[in-house]
Amino acid sequence: MLEADLLVFASPVYTLRTTAAMKALLDHLCVHWMVHRPDDRMFQKKAVILTNAIGWIQGGAQKDIATSLKWLGVSQVKKLGIPLMEDAFWTKLSAGKRQSIGGKTLFAITKMMHQGRARKESPLSADNQYWLDKGWIKL
Ligand SMILES: Cc1cc2nc3c(=O)[nH]c(=O)nc-3n(C[C@H](O)[C@H](O)[C@H](O)COP(=O)(O)O)c2cc1C
Repeated sequence: MLEADLLVFASPVYTLRTTAAMKALLDHLCVHWMVHRPDDRMFQKKAVILTNAIGWIQGGAQKDIATSLKWLGVSQVKKLGIPLMEDAFWTKLSAGKRQSIGGKTLFAITKMMHQGRARKESPLSADNQYWLDKGWIKL
């Protein structure tokens, strides 16, 4: 984690929150919250929170992780929730659902990359200008 530019937290939703396993990791990292011993290597990092559940309600699970990231000093965080609806098994999902999940995930991760790079560029690359014009990133 300390070496990575991008942190990706992936968690299913269990009883409207993140899993006990994820919570154990977050609790372990609590020693580095701002109020204790913050690690300044976290301040430049970006993070993506990916959740999946049967239904739409994923905000609680995402917030469990986002709260920890905030207190660890990671300010650039994007969240993406995937409601499976059809089934809980990847192999049982329709081709359309699988494609939409893959596309959304790739978009969220790529967006973080463009967002991070655009803030350091002057002038903007043609790609980053395109993302800015589309309103997908901000300066
Ligand atoms: C204990 C448990 C609690 C769950 N709670 C919810 C829930 O509150 N809302 C929901 O939409 N899905 C819920 N689910 C469904 C899971 O989010 C879904 O099946 C997910 O794909 C499981 O991922 P996994 O196979 O990696 O554990 C729950 C599943 C389990 C096992």
